[in-house]
Amino acid sequence: MSDAVDPHRTEPYGLRTRSCATELTCRECGYRTPLLDKAFKCPACGEGLDVDYDYELAKKRIAERPAGERPWNIWRFEELLPILNLRAQRRVAQFAGKTPLIHAERLGAELGLSNLYLKDDSTNRPSLSYKDRVVGMAIARLLELGKDEVGCVSTGNVGTAVASLAAQAGARPYIFYPGNMEKGKAKACRAMGAQVIQLDANYDQANRACRELALETGMEFANITLRPFYAEGAKTMAFEVVEELGWRAPDHFVIPAAGGTLSSRVHKGLVELEKVGLAETADSKIDIAQASGCSPIATAILGGAEIVTQTPETAAHSLAIGAPGDGNLVVDAVRSREGSAATASDEEIWGAIDLLGETEGILTEPAGGTTIASTARLAQEGKIAPDETVVAVISGNGLKTLHEHPEKDWPEGVPCEVGAMERLLNDFRQAAAALR
Ligand SMILES: Cc1ncc(COP(=O)(O)O)c(C=O)c1O
Ligand SMILES: [Zn+2]
Repeated sequence: MSDAVDPHRTEPYGLRTRSCATELTCRECGYRTPLLDKAFKCPACGEGLDVDYDYELAKKRIAERPAGERPWNIWRFEELLPILNLRAQRRVAQFAGKTPLIHAERLGAELGLSNLYLKDDSTNRPSLSYKDRVVGMAIARLLELGKDEVGCVSTGNVGTAVASLAAQAGARPYIFYPGNMEKGKAKACRAMGAQVIQLDANYDQANRACRELALETGMEFANITLRPFYAEGAKTMAFEVVEELGWRAPDHFVIPAAGGTLSSRVHKGLVELEKVGLAETADSKIDIAQASGCSPIATAILGGAEIVTQTPETAAHSLAIGAPGDGNLVVDAVRSREGSAATASDEEIWGAIDLLGETEGILTEPAGGTTIASTARLAQEGKIAPDETVVAVISGNGLKTLHEHPEKDWPEGVPCEVGAMERLLNDFRQAAAALR
């Protein structure tokens, strides 16, 4: 693949997206460098770099093109996304995003919330998690750089997204997993032709080693070297939700956090919607959901303290990051919006997965269970009022993790004979009647 295009080239018109991205910047010290620079950390202070935009130009360009002429995928508001090369953009993630926003009346009734919505990224394409948004951006950047190999380090879902999106773009994926993860996700990556390496380490150790490997080998890593671009994809969750609510921001977003990319970039996306005049979003609160066995961000928020690294011990493997890279950004975002946080035990997470399934027919993985259990706690604690509009993010699909869900007894090997079947049916009916 040798179609690297200088993102600063605006001619010939037609090869360039409408992106209004200008430079990579450091929030901490103000360092700025061209978008084409391959730096991902600030050389002056070591902070992760962020993408900046010409917001006046974005406002103008967004107004020029009506919603009806825009694609319904993650590229819908490409003005506020960092990919400049049109060919690269068109080859990646054309079916990612536009996941449903579901008014969850039955679950809401259980939790005492009359305006509860679920942003259902368990149906995201191609790999059934929110990670299709961020990895979509990273793979488009990979093509923009003219590269055809990509690595990643993953708690589970980044890997499946990289395997899938890289395959579709014709790039070769190398996926590094920690020791403790759901094996079905690694198997899915191998089924899609990716090379998968499971390290004898936890995620935080694997992440540090992958960073060194990336620098040593020059191979791009979707969530390390391409991280400034990767992270921008998470803003599309905010853009979609606010549009799906008729350009009104919800009172609360409840967002599961691991490294903190999704929650910090939903915040950035909300700020941008206001900057370009699409919606008023300043009153939207962000609440963080974490497992009690790995809650560095929630603990800092609830304790009014700094983030302290933890050693994860939770069934929510996709959220098991003890040293969250974007943790400080999340804490700042939550505090500035006067949001909060909640944690859930493994038992509460499995219970919430069942409750979501029984009330809304959605099968999620432990990350989604963490969101629902945390939403319940926030409502119980009065941090969410009964009539406030709440968007709870269901970020992953339970079909990928079913193997680890607790077993439930069920009648197997029953004689295929009407008498036996009727007796079982009656037992089930009586049990249902007793619950009423
Ligand atoms: C299903 C799911 N939800 C949420 C998250 C949290 O993502 P972030 O690292 O952006 O906080 C992850 C991260 O791995 C995930 O796999
Ligand atoms: Zn800096």
